[in-house]
Amino acid sequence: MMKIQKIKGFADLFPEEAAKFTFLESRAREIFGRYGFGELRTPLLEHTELFAKSIGEDTDVVGKEMFTFPDRKGRLLTLRPEATAGVMRAFIEGGDWQPGQVRKYFTTGPMFRYERPQKGRQRQFHQINAEILGANEPQADAELILMLRTFLTDIGLTRLSVELNTLGCRECRPMFRQALTAFFAGLDREKLCEDCRRRVETNPLRVLDCKVPGCGELTKDAPHITDHVCGHCREHFDTVKALLDAARVAYTLNPRLVRGLDYYQRTAFEITSGEIGSQTAVAGGGRYDGLVGSLGGPDVPGVGFACGMERLAMLLEHCPESRPDFHLAVLDERAVNQCLILAQGLRERGLSGEVAYAPGSLKSQLRRANKSGARMALVVGGEEFDKGLVLIKDMGGAADQRHVPRERLLAMVAVSGLEALLSAALPERTEE
Ligand code: HAM
Repeated sequence: MMKIQKIKGFADLFPEEAAKFTFLESRAREIFGRYGFGELRTPLLEHTELFAKSIGEDTDVVGKEMFTFPDRKGRLLTLRPEATAGVMRAFIEGGDWQPGQVRKYFTTGPMFRYERPQKGRQRQFHQINAEILGANEPQADAELILMLRTFLTDIGLTRLSVELNTLGCRECRPMFRQALTAFFAGLDREKLCEDCRRRVETNPLRVLDCKVPGCGELTKDAPHITDHVCGHCREHFDTVKALLDAARVAYTLNPRLVRGLDYYQRTAFEITSGEIGSQTAVAGGGRYDGLVGSLGGPDVPGVGFACGMERLAMLLEHCPESRPDFHLAVLDERAVNQCLILAQGLRERGLSGEVAYAPGSLKSQLRRANKSGARMALVVGGEEFDKGLVLIKDMGGAADQRHVPRERLLAMVAVSGLEALLSAALPERTEE
């Protein structure tokens, strides 16, 4: 029979990989909590219109990469390609916001983009996403970048570069767009890639960060947006930079950094890691004042970022692994049921570990205990079963082992947990 395979660009996360994701999420939850962020869980499916309106019709994400399909009544739905749009919709519908208030939300979970799968790029991928709504101050932008850096450092990432740019606002961007269009008018457009030939008309800023080498070369003398932004945008950007300087965050100014989503205004940033290639961002974000208003909500400013969890997982050197406390080895058929109940008692008292469902040789069971990384092996063979004993063997030390009466075991654990058993296993504490 033909085996059913997973969908291209979608991955299964087996426990070792899933543990990395859980680790990343739990560190983000803890660290973002220090900055006052609360978790917001939004649906995976939204009306297609939400993404078209917020991310922009002319973006690659909306134009080419969305998983869109009609529901049973013919309404177009899309699997979320990013979290920001859904967070905005939720905020407008249920955020209960009053002017003057600031809301901070973080979201984690799968996102979907129909991209060409490659290392660090999937069609179903996961993001950790954070948004601050209601603050137009540059302090919010800086705080977010600092929070992101704190998180990335905490999980052990080094060799990170922060790229920073300002994209201007509704007032000054049209002027820059004109300057750019005038510059493109003097170019041989045929030399641009197919996408950029279209972007020159629809979204000229996007030409600036096209990754096709020919396009970069052709547009290397293009005007810089930083020379065209208005006084308010310049002041905002200067404060963000001054705050990053004060916090000793190194960054590179990249006037060509545009980001692939249309909702950005003013601050835009990306974080790349030397370890997975400078073209591949591990995180990106920026300010999006006006987005909430354009979706029918109040005029609320916003700023946020998202990290790609697959890319972070690739860079994790060591995810703290959880070592089980015990492995309960059963060597005698008669002890099997009793051991399952004993293991249950240990787990109820907070210890973690596994128990064999069927008897096996001491050698094979100790091999299993070793493989699992258990701190100690508990062994019940025929002799132990007959005498009502359990052999405690400290897996850390070669000869540290001792017999303990079975009925005392749970009482010892109840009083002082795993340590009671580990100290019981020390050889100098009398042999049974
Ligand atoms: P983005 O730059 O499109 O921004 O995505 C953020 C991060 O998600 C990227 O830097 C990358 O690490 C990861 N990512 C994106 N696409 C893929 C993929 N196909 N496979 C693996 N990882 C991927 C946003 O999504 C914005 N919503 C961020 C934001 C939040 N801006 C403001 N608030």
